[in-house]
Amino acid sequence: MLAKYYGLPYAEIIRKETGYFISRVYDELSTAGLSLVDSIFVLFNTAISLVVALGLAVSFSLKASSILLVVIPVIIYCSHRFTARIRTQSKYEKEEEATLRGLLGRALASYKVTRTFNLYDKIYSRIWRQLRKFNDTYYSRFKTSSIYQTLAGVSLSYAEAAVIVVGGYEILARRMTFGTFMAFMSAFWIVMAASKGLFEQITEISRVTASLERITEFGVNAVEKHVPHFDGIRLEGLAFAYNEKKVLRNIYLEAKKGDRILVVGPNGVGKSTLAHIIAGFLCPTVGELKTLPLERISAVIFPFHFVPGTVIDNVTFDHIDGKQELLSELAHEFELDEVLDKDPVELSAGQRKKVEVMMGLLKEADLYVFDEPFSHLDQTGRGKILGAILRRTENKMLILISNDESCSECFDKVIRLEASGELETSTQDDVVAPRPEELHATSRV
Ligand SMILES: Nc1ncnc2c1ncn2[C@@H]1O[C@H](COP(=O)(O)OP(=O)(O)OP(=O)(O)O)[C@@H](O)[C@H]1O
Ligand SMILES: [Mg+2]
Repeated sequence: MLAKYYGLPYAEIIRKETGYFISRVYDELSTAGLSLVDSIFVLFNTAISLVVALGLAVSFSLKASSILLVVIPVIIYCSHRFTARIRTQSKYEKEEEATLRGLLGRALASYKVTRTFNLYDKIYSRIWRQLRKFNDTYYSRFKTSSIYQTLAGVSLSYAEAAVIVVGGYEILARRMTFGTFMAFMSAFWIVMAASKGLFEQITEISRVTASLERITEFGVNAVEKHVPHFDGIRLEGLAFAYNEKKVLRNIYLEAKKGDRILVVGPNGVGKSTLAHIIAGFLCPTVGELKTLPLERISAVIFPFHFVPGTVIDNVTFDHIDGKQELLSELAHEFELDEVLDKDPVELSAGQRKKVEVMMGLLKEADLYVFDEPFSHLDQTGRGKILGAILRRTENKMLILISNDESCSECFDKVIRLEASGELETSTQDDVVAPRPEELHATSRV
């Protein structure tokens, strides 16, 4: 399930909360697995009792036992009708439960905000609404299961009454002794109890089947659009929207080896969205996108999440072979030597930002994308980060997003994203960019 999760398109990931995916990749799987094992054991036991008791009942009276032949087809018909409904309702129930888990995860993460701004009532009512939605789906499924079990139970009760009547008639007709009738009834009640257990299991199995279907369906319909690979970047007439919200439009951009581009623009204009598109995580709604494959891109884009583990666990990935020297150099330069063995959650915001950039620089790539690499950094930190980025990306492609335009002289092109979602480009032909070493030495940011 984890592998399936990482195979989903990024557009799917941002549509739901993390908790929703925890429910899909873990909770549903573990519950379905345990229920399946339970059901198999119970079914096995019930089936053995049923077969043995049925054999005994038939051996005592074939005629009385044949009543079951009338009841069983009715119950099988009901099973067929009800189990399909239970399966569909279980799927709705699981979806609402996963959404609830996502909401709950986010609400719990907002501990400080909830307390500081006294938002408990708001959170409570939002969770309550989702809980009710989940409860409604739970109730619908429970109702269908109950109706089915009641119908099956009533049919069995009729069968029981009919068997007693037939048995009585057989005694009166002297074809059966009272002792045989009692023995037959003992066996028959075991058949009844086993059949009841079997019908209860059928509803449980329908629920498990629904979960298993959700597990197999997970990620099947979410097909990632193919982005044509190219030796540079080419965006032509590109537009992008998150559902109904239009963010970028009419974007034309080309970059090749050696280009250094600075992307600036006001908050919320679409800079990070553009970075996601360039890295191939999001596909344009309109227009053409050509970019490098992800193996050749090193992108550090907001929001950035570290993998579980220490800083060193995060920065020693596959592409790091032969980069030990660079790692030590960057750790030293960014003053991260002391924190390499720490979990990133224990670091300050500025230190985390430095680790993010360090990760980006350690990957051997042809295109480097950095989204707001200077946020949370002090002046010295900014100079060091910019210097290291410029040094490492020499003769590569660099796209750097920043609200800070003071470093624009280090770039060949400055791209300004306008509030309309369009681009305005200016070249830096008249500006002589300082050499990275110079910049590092003087912290000219
Ligand atoms: N996951 C999302 N779902 C829906 N809309 C989104 C999503 N992410 C961003 N947006 C919207 O897209 C617009 C552009 O967001 P984006 O993060 O690209 O802006 P930005 O230019 O990087 O802003 P900033 O300077 O604040 O980082 C914003 O108006 C935002 O509301
Ligand atoms: Mg942004």
